[in-house]
Amino acid sequence: MTSSNRSAKVEELLKALREEKGFVSGERLGEKLGLTRASVWKMIRKLKEEGYTITSKPKMGYALIKEPEALNGLAIKEGLKCALFAKKVHIVEEVDSTNTWAFREALKGAEEGEVFLAETQTKGKGRLGRTWFSPLKKNVYMSLVLRPKLPPRKVPLLGLFASLAVAEVFKYSYGLNPLLKWPNDVLVNGKKICGILTEAFGEAEVVAFVVLGIGINVNVKREELPLELRGIATSLNEELGHEISRNELVKKVLEAFEPLYLGLTSQREKELLERYRNYCPMDGSEVLVEEFGQVVEGIVEGIDEEGALVLRTSQGQRKIFAGDVKVKRWASF
Ligand code: BTN
Repeated sequence: MTSSNRSAKVEELLKALREEKGFVSGERLGEKLGLTRASVWKMIRKLKEEGYTITSKPKMGYALIKEPEALNGLAIKEGLKCALFAKKVHIVEEVDSTNTWAFREALKGAEEGEVFLAETQTKGKGRLGRTWFSPLKKNVYMSLVLRPKLPPRKVPLLGLFASLAVAEVFKYSYGLNPLLKWPNDVLVNGKKICGILTEAFGEAEVVAFVVLGIGINVNVKREELPLELRGIATSLNEELGHEISRNELVKKVLEAFEPLYLGLTSQREKELLERYRNYCPMDGSEVLVEEFGQVVEGIVEGIDEEGALVLRTSQGQRKIFAGDVKVKRWASF
């Protein structure tokens, strides 16, 4: 698969490296491609940033050791234990945002459970109008089309339960100790590793469809993160110390989320909310919540049956339905 971000020369360089069985000098590569050794070196650096493992040795040159794993629909579907999700898996190299793409397709009739994945996003969307950092081939950018028979007020629960699915995968498949920060941030060692964006379409009383977007930092390394994220974000690779197969991870997340989704649509949300609360130790914590441009300060009393955050404020009890939470003091630590 070629990358639309990559120049034809970088493609040629990659082809040349693949053809060589061992080391090849920068000079020889330069001659072959009509480039200076400095340009070869720059392109090698670009490939390394994309996840190619290329070693270099003085007097010997460069050798391609390992190529990054590409997303693969067959690998995702093979043996997948899902009855509803991923009958169709769409994968592209680059897209504006998998959520925007899935939304467009849902408007045209995409079915419940269709999965949209991209190797990179040029306009990855975060919650509350933020952008989502989406480097090529490093992470998971996935959106699911859902057509739940739910009243709109219950839609936020989808995001909560998707974050629960990711947290349970991290715990049971990768041995991590994740926490959830309301509504649906997954944190490991206090840093964000996964974010979820739920976008619904419908009328006041009925939901036509929901696009549920999941972004997971998988193989991105700390030094590859933008400076403003280094102190607050992490990845599976950083936490586990080795690379993770994104195809395997996608499979596990789909398998974990499907029963929670079916549980919600068959009104088992009480039990699922209990499971969510086990990962979200926010009761008693002092928080600042930004809701529609206003900052509300309070102490968390709990999460209600619709997934709203219940706060005790100086003006009495207040329910927060959407917003950004800053925890001033966690109660449990
Ligand atoms: C957040 O701000 O925490 C939500 C981040 C959601 C990111 C994912 S990546 C896949 C999907 N496509 C997007 O543009 N956003 C979501």
